[in-house]
Amino acid sequence: MTTLSRWFGRFLPVGPCPHLPEAPVAGLSQPPPALSSAAPSAALAAATAGLSGTGAALDSRAYPVFTEPADYMACREGGRLLVHTKRFFERRAIRRCLDGLTDIRAVVDVPCGPGRLFPYWRRRGFVVTGMDFSMPMVAAATERHRDLGLQGRVLWGDAFRPETYPGEVPDLVASVRFVYYFGREQRVALLEALAAVSRRYVLAQYKTWETLRGRKTQGRTRRKHGANGKQFCSRAEIAGELREAGLNCLRIEPIGPWSDRVFVMAERAAGARSS
Ligand SMILES: C[S@@+](CC[C@H](N)C(=O)[O-])C[C@H]1O[C@@H](n2cnc3c(N)ncnc32)[C@H](O)[C@@H]1O
Repeated sequence: MTTLSRWFGRFLPVGPCPHLPEAPVAGLSQPPPALSSAAPSAALAAATAGLSGTGAALDSRAYPVFTEPADYMACREGGRLLVHTKRFFERRAIRRCLDGLTDIRAVVDVPCGPGRLFPYWRRRGFVVTGMDFSMPMVAAATERHRDLGLQGRVLWGDAFRPETYPGEVPDLVASVRFVYYFGREQRVALLEALAAVSRRYVLAQYKTWETLRGRKTQGRTRRKHGANGKQFCSRAEIAGELREAGLNCLRIEPIGPWSDRVFVMAERAAGARSS
């Protein structure tokens, strides 16, 4: 590539990353990730030792497990202008969700991936616990956590299984770029798990077809992946799913009309709240 085309490339739109799992999950449309890299059996055994349970076997095939932290970060945080713009609007939407909520000191970021959002949580002064199902992601996030000098820790866990979360109860559980990999029933189960481990708030990111871009990308996703593609919801559907999971919807903040994503801030229903 010439220097000139590289320079122009910085301003070009960033397409989907070919090496990242694009298709989900619901219906197990993707092959099982190599357990040796996604969740080494020794680590898996250690992490799950003593878990009693739901009886559900750990089935990483059901999840969009990412095993290449460097590729993921390069794709999400690469130097292109559009990436910076996207990050600005993503953080603006998160800030709008958090505005006025003064009782948040500790966040569990699940799945944290390589800790992409750690710098943002740090700026807010939160104690940060990161959790992911992929051991390579846990390793990368641990390094980032340490480099940023954060309080908290990073651990392996399954977002759907409350018994794999850290014992400390955070004020906020944040789940970004994850919920929409799953069908409705699984989304509600996931929200229930997030609510169960939070003292008060749950922040989740959904995809919606109710923006200009959402209408376009939903059509494209359907054509490419059929019903197994990433899932798009209306705001009314999102609010309904939250209710079903025992959460009250506080805010739904679109990233912008040019994005198909919204951030959703929810609070545990009063009766379900732990002190
Ligand atoms: C698209 S990344 C999102 C990471 C981060 N939240 C962000 O916004 O950059 C999805 C992450 O979910 C992790 N993952 C997949 N299934 C999981 C599960 N059941 N529990 C926890 N993490 C899971 C993957 O390994 C991957 O790191």
